[in-house]
Amino acid sequence: MITRRGLITGLGAGAVATFIPKLSWANREAGPLAMPPLLDATGTGRFRLAAQSGQTNFLGNTATETWGFNQAFLGPTVRVANKGAVQAEVENRLNEAMSVHWHGLVIPGDVDGGPHQPIAPGATWSPELPVDQASATVWYHTHIHGETARQVHMGLAGVLQLSDGLDDERGLPSTYGIDDLTLVLQDRRFDRRGRMDYSLSMPDQMMGFLGDTMLINGQVSATAMVPRGIVRLRLLNGSNARIYTLSMSDDRAMHLVATDTGLLDKPIELNELTLSPGERYEVLVDFGDGKDVSLISQQSTNMGMMGGGMMGGHRAAGPPFEILPFKVDTALNARIAALPLDLGGSRPDMDETKATRRKVTLDMGMGPGMMMRRSSNRFSINGRSFDMRRTDFTIQRGALERWSVSANMMMHPFHVHGVTFQVLSENGRAPNPQNTGWKDTVLIDGRAELLMRFDQPASEALPFMFHCHILEHEDGGMMGQFAVV
Ligand code: C2O
Ligand code: CU
Ligand code: CU
Repeated sequence: MITRRGLITGLGAGAVATFIPKLSWANREAGPLAMPPLLDATGTGRFRLAAQSGQTNFLGNTATETWGFNQAFLGPTVRVANKGAVQAEVENRLNEAMSVHWHGLVIPGDVDGGPHQPIAPGATWSPELPVDQASATVWYHTHIHGETARQVHMGLAGVLQLSDGLDDERGLPSTYGIDDLTLVLQDRRFDRRGRMDYSLSMPDQMMGFLGDTMLINGQVSATAMVPRGIVRLRLLNGSNARIYTLSMSDDRAMHLVATDTGLLDKPIELNELTLSPGERYEVLVDFGDGKDVSLISQQSTNMGMMGGGMMGGHRAAGPPFEILPFKVDTALNARIAALPLDLGGSRPDMDETKATRRKVTLDMGMGPGMMMRRSSNRFSINGRSFDMRRTDFTIQRGALERWSVSANMMMHPFHVHGVTFQVLSENGRAPNPQNTGWKDTVLIDGRAELLMRFDQPASEALPFMFHCHILEHEDGGMMGQFAVV
């Protein structure tokens, strides 16, 4: 049985106090899902974002303070050409510093928007982004060290599409909001009055924040209207910590067409897709039978094979919960009826024999100190907690490196700035099919080998970050930085 609200229950180890607010939401007619507004900058090569505060009424009874770009919560879907300089302008109308990091753009460190590039209240940051990479669904979000989790939770995130304009030739659905849906998955908690609540319990501080209510594009209980044909779902996990294990409620296939930073060569048929924080996947789903169906997720503990082995992988007890129901609307134009066979994308296939090896261990401190509020060094990489003033290593520009990344205590979604990488193996075996495309974030459940080339420069003053994308872990110190010279 799949329920709609207060639905993410049954989490292991009391990770979340399951609180189901008694609200009238269930009787409210949930509306059709809205897309983020599309800000198409493919023609002009320039766009403007203004971080601002506003009021959002998620549950229909109380407005809550939220932040967004050009609107009250989250930001527009910005579409830019995949090649050519893009002039961005980001104004900060909030009264604290924030930043905009372009997660998935392979660009130099001096325009990357990480923790060394805060935008002061009232200031405007105008980086020119030298975009030159394959079509992809990437994203943008704030990245102030120690504040990222709270600021993203407030809403400082949005989707960035890199487009080469060739999707029609590929036979890929591309009508924004009709057969090409942008879906930002986030979990939240609300208090009795319907206000968004980001108070961290001790398990939250350790595991990362887990909510009990799903937001899709900032909406609760909405239904996606789809044409009777093939629809593209661009999935972004914009949650602070929750890992989704997605499937369709009737088990119909999801055809994977793109991973974080590019299209595949050809679709991969999947019945289940794991989506960890920071990752993007694009899938095609066939609604040609006209039946209503839902995107659902299994419960997850984040424990993985290290801590959750006894519970059978990373699945927790409890029923699957609904992410998003779909309703077929025959009035919508079903433009694509057949799956494309050839996507024209690529799978990475670099020569690993020339790679320099590097070990990266994602650590969580053990013992009683681990549970202490704001204890330092609780989270670290290779035994060191993040330090803004320390360059962890320097890489020669153009170097190829093979990183052996291991996750301790639980699964950690690992992200590297300034590159796109190939997953060579996971726990000594061939990578999971969903990880065979170009990636910039990968869920480490045990150990994975990653191969990447460092073509973008980053100075010691404006270095690239590498970190766990569970935002509470990142803020807690599970992050490092490197220069490329
Ligand atoms: Cu999506 Cu360093 O972040
Ligand atoms: Cu990033
Ligand atoms: Cu982590």
